[in-house]
Amino acid sequence: MPDETGQAPYRPGELALPTADMRNAGHRAIDLVVERLRSVRHTAPHATADPAALKALLDEPLPEDGRDLTEVIEQVTQQALPLGIRFDHPRCLAFIPTTGNFPAALADLLAAAYLSVPGAWLVGSGPTRIELTALSWLCELLGLPETWGGLFVSGGSVANLTALAAARDHHLAGDLTDARLYCSTQAHPSIARAAHLLGLDRSQLTSLPPDTGHRLDPRLLSARLTQDRAAGLRPFAVVATLGTTSTGAIDPLTELADICRDHRLWLHIDGAHGAAYAATARGHHLRPALRRADSLVIDPHKWLFQPYETGCVLVRDPALLKNTFRMERHHLDTGYLRPSRARGDEINLDDYGPQQSRGLRALKLWLSLKTFGATAFRRAIDHGLDLAEHAADRITAHRELRLVTPPGVGILTFAYEPPGPEPDLAAMDRLQYEVSEAVCASGQAVILTTRVHGRTTLRMCTINPATTSVDIDTTLDLVVQTGRACRIRTRSR
Ligand SMILES: Cc1ncc(COP(=O)(O)O)c(C=O)c1O
Repeated sequence: MPDETGQAPYRPGELALPTADMRNAGHRAIDLVVERLRSVRHTAPHATADPAALKALLDEPLPEDGRDLTEVIEQVTQQALPLGIRFDHPRCLAFIPTTGNFPAALADLLAAAYLSVPGAWLVGSGPTRIELTALSWLCELLGLPETWGGLFVSGGSVANLTALAAARDHHLAGDLTDARLYCSTQAHPSIARAAHLLGLDRSQLTSLPPDTGHRLDPRLLSARLTQDRAAGLRPFAVVATLGTTSTGAIDPLTELADICRDHRLWLHIDGAHGAAYAATARGHHLRPALRRADSLVIDPHKWLFQPYETGCVLVRDPALLKNTFRMERHHLDTGYLRPSRARGDEINLDDYGPQQSRGLRALKLWLSLKTFGATAFRRAIDHGLDLAEHAADRITAHRELRLVTPPGVGILTFAYEPPGPEPDLAAMDRLQYEVSEAVCASGQAVILTTRVHGRTTLRMCTINPATTSVDIDTTLDLVVQTGRACRIRTRSR
């Protein structure tokens, strides 16, 4: 019978679907996923839409009455989901692309359907075990001792925040007065955002100018620490980057570890992108330094080919994460949580990070490692390194291209430089930007720009395992053709 608002009461089953409808929609969704993965090379690496047109297409009143699920899946996969950068396209060389993979996509579906929560042991013992195993696999891949631990989080930004929260609590004991955190200006902006969220004002984050190789300069850092200590300030942590986002530079980790030891500081390594390099034979030399860090970030949704959101924070002493995040530290009424207290060997992962209810992000990595094996992952990372070397060779050999920074963890920067009289610096910067825009507009490749030593350069990140050396050559040819066309247009203006 309708209530006073005229609404009929809920009938059990209204929020469920008949078995046949679930199967049909599920089969259709899987077909669409397979088709999307299969067709990647034959689609454009970037698609966008005018905001007003997209609003007109997709904005609608709250749907009071339901519709057929398969129809709705068709609508969203045609009208919304394909719009954006296709990170898995072999000629999408922008930002730090990921490819995702089919087992990982299924993992998200399974984790959602099973409502898997690696939070408290009582709530999700199986999911917790999967996450702990995936964490230990990550440690093994990177050569970290099994005593390390950590947590899967949404991505590098939250992983940095989580690690630095533990660093703050361990070193500053609740008093932020005059505290100082150090990084280079090349550190990812999420470090500054983390500092802000942790209650540090801008003056408490010291971002030092890098050396000529875009690395945190140990001598500068040392001098600054001594000076700050003498001024009564309280340094507590240093952020080193393993693979800066702009140029792929690796901060001198061993020297920074020595400095942190001497000054008793927390060493945090942001390896969101570059830490995967340590999984390969070529990156093995980094392992001793990684073991000396207090915390390390790696984003499997970057160079371990996972879909979003798969970030990870690893710490040498997991008890320090627990010290910061365990529910009972925070003194509100946790009575209702008593039944879920960990007993004996049980582990409640929600005591190790800021989330209580957590999705089973680890299942993506777990399922894809089980399906493909770690060797395939190492080879795929190596492939990205080879492609960057190939691109650098091609750029160096070309009269109209200049390598600005050499390959670092699969990232390189370069410039299109036309023959003939040199345009002025501002015109040259504009030209790089125009080349990038025109390459993207061609629908053949995505190449974006960055700033290196104050100049605009083109930038490539070559870590997609589906990219071939032919894709790199085609893209560089396109850059040159586009550069010539842009130059002619500029001259005739
Ligand atoms: C070095 C580094 N740290 C942190 C991040 C932030 O990662 P996320 O976008 O997953 O939050 C990035 C992203 O590109 C990065 O390159």
